[in-house]
Amino acid sequence: MIKKKVSFDLSVYDSIEELEAGDKELMQRAVISRKNAYAPYSGFNVGAAVLLENGEIITGNNQENAAYPSGLCAERVAVFYAGANYPGVKIKAIAITAASKNYIVDTAAAPCGDCRQAISEYEAKQQSPIALFLMGETGKILKCNAIADILPLAFSSSFLS
Ligand code: THU
Repeated sequence: MIKKKVSFDLSVYDSIEELEAGDKELMQRAVISRKNAYAPYSGFNVGAAVLLENGEIITGNNQENAAYPSGLCAERVAVFYAGANYPGVKIKAIAITAASKNYIVDTAAAPCGDCRQAISEYEAKQQSPIALFLMGETGKILKCNAIADILPLAFSSSFLS
């Protein structure tokens, strides 16, 4: 038996002001989108902004439903729109931000497992990393260099061939 350690690089920024201009704009677009979230049941609003390699930014936010599982997270609303409307255009980065109507979210919101899996599909398909910028409403911003970093041992199409 051998033991292996899995680790990844995480960049921590004190605030949005510390981000490079393009990354800051991406996060600002996520914040704007967050405000349009439809989250009457959880009161937890999430915004996502997807940067494509052609420079376009696609945004999305969580869409809840009275039949709870029928709703969808912000990240998947955004990446599925990108996949549907910009097939073949690579995704460079995704900014994600969350706010609650009940408290101040001061820790970076990371994508749920389903969203990691969904984003992972695009990262594998395009064979280049998708960077993630994660933010609450206030507080530090985290940058992951690739979705694979936060979804080790991912299930992928390689198992299906
Ligand atoms: N949510 C997201 O939009 N993204 C995530 O990665 C985690 C959770 C949404 C789903 C639901 O509308 C609300 O946050 C509470 O779970």
